[in-house]
Amino acid sequence: MNPKRRPILAGNWKMNMTAAQARDLAGKLVPLVSGVTGRDIVLGPPFTALAAVAETIKGTNVSLSAQDLHWEDKGAFTGEISAEMLLDLGCRYVIIGHSERRQYFGETDETVNKKVRQALKKGLLPILCVGETLAEREAGKLNEIISRQVTGGLKDIPTSDMQKIVIAYEPVWAIGTGKTATPEQANEVHALIRRKIKALYSADIAEGLRIQYGGSVTPENVSTLMAMPDIDGALVGGASLKPESFAALVNFK
Ligand code: PGA
Repeated sequence: MNPKRRPILAGNWKMNMTAAQARDLAGKLVPLVSGVTGRDIVLGPPFTALAAVAETIKGTNVSLSAQDLHWEDKGAFTGEISAEMLLDLGCRYVIIGHSERRQYFGETDETVNKKVRQALKKGLLPILCVGETLAEREAGKLNEIISRQVTGGLKDIPTSDMQKIVIAYEPVWAIGTGKTATPEQANEVHALIRRKIKALYSADIAEGLRIQYGGSVTPENVSTLMAMPDIDGALVGGASLKPESFAALVNFK
């Protein structure tokens, strides 16, 4: 953590929670985090629960994120959701290029980049996810993969939009597996991303960029991760599905 960057704690609920369950979870969370200042708190329910959560967090210090969007404004894209629809429901953020979308739904750096550009064009704040698989790490391709995903995801993004972007580093082997990257391992990749951003943009942009770590973050390990100089937040799956554990995460020391 660096005092110049505001920590951002985001829950990615993935394909969990009906609207009623989501309302209940958000309703229990709000009072547990209402006293938190100086940190961004974000909930990412599935599309079908966005409206319910939006209503529950209205006027609080918690903001709303979608888990994906489509890159076109509207039209014949059956099953897809546009930026305008998300804004209409009160979304401020949108998670883009999560490894599960890359792995199971064929997302590429190119489609991820189109989505980032569309989010920015429409006024949503992108949380751009990057991360290597275990096979890639073991093959010594960590730097190559991360650099490719960062460069590809940010293609044609002007400097003036860079302060709106959050990058989430999520090693695929740490997601939902209980295997967290060590704080040192995570920080090393965060520093690599920051160096890449410095090379692509400037030292100022790199210094201001918030980089979240994601992959088996829990109330027990969040503080040691957040103590690292280049870790500015967490993108949390499993541990965000219970109000007490997500609140404990948000309240990290
Ligand atoms: P996890 O998921 O916290 O359950 O590992 C993180 C994520 O995929 O965003």
